[in-house]
Amino acid sequence: MQLENKVVIVTGGAAGIGGAISRVLVARGAKIVAVDLNAEAGDALVSGLGENVRFLAGDVSDKAVAEAAVKLAKQDFGGLDGLVNNAHASRQAMFNELTEEQWDLSFNTGFRATRQFMAAAYPLLATNGGSVVNFGSGSAMVGQMTQAAYASAKEAIRGLSRVTANEWAKDNIRVNVVSPMALTDGVKAWSEAYPQMYQDSLDKIPLGRFGDPETDVAPIVAFLLSDDSRYMTGQTVMADGGANKLY
Ligand SMILES: NC(=O)c1ccc[n+]([C@@H]2O[C@H](COP(=O)([O-])OP(=O)(O)OC[C@H]3O[C@@H](n4cnc5c(N)ncnc54)[C@H](O)[C@@H]3O)[C@@H](O)[C@H]2O)c1
Repeated sequence: MQLENKVVIVTGGAAGIGGAISRVLVARGAKIVAVDLNAEAGDALVSGLGENVRFLAGDVSDKAVAEAAVKLAKQDFGGLDGLVNNAHASRQAMFNELTEEQWDLSFNTGFRATRQFMAAAYPLLATNGGSVVNFGSGSAMVGQMTQAAYASAKEAIRGLSRVTANEWAKDNIRVNVVSPMALTDGVKAWSEAYPQMYQDSLDKIPLGRFGDPETDVAPIVAFLLSDDSRYMTGQTVMADGGANKLY
């Protein structure tokens, strides 16, 4: 599906799954504002993709960054049609060992950032309707050990998504969640720290592999941003090779 002239904010949009989303959206005709802490990757994104990309260096947990991203979308591209809340930093530890800093990192970059970007984007999205894609995780749905701070923030994001899907339907704003499984640098680092857990996860993927960010996950995000999914809202879409099934 095509996204001609749709303007979309992508958080964590310089690298990992977010970088893949940025590239795929632009290839399908969108104009994007990518927000990321990683300025080097952001500059590389802009040089690779050109005039249809703006990069904003910043921490997504900062409300001012969310407001600046929306302002940039309006000023440079004339409005806003979509928001992808992809960035989320977290650390793994058993519940009894998790520190306050680790809880704050996960909730601030995950739940708080998603909430603040949605609030900042709402007035523009409401003018013509729009689509919000938030990010969940299968490890949260199954309660994977060492993921308490991450899983709690991810499920809070899904709760927020279902409520806003209902509240914002009157404005023709759809809110859906993608739950991916993809081999990014972050997952590679996790697999090295917890090789047995990685192998266990791999064994549970019916399609037999971790997904590719660009060809397995980003197209599903593009679909949810496009008019092809205009009758879908409040859903969680599993882009995970069949690993976790929601009934
Ligand atoms: N990779 C997977 O298999 C997997 C599985 C389940 C869920 N997810 C979710 O998918 C999303 C993307 O995952 P990923 O593996 O690409 O992550 P990643 O860590 O590889 O990349 C995230 C991007 O976000 C940026 N970022 C991190 N903290 C930020 C902050 N505070 N402010 C601005 N930018 C920040 C990073 O610089 C990076 O460019 C996340 O929400 C993650 O929880 C991923």
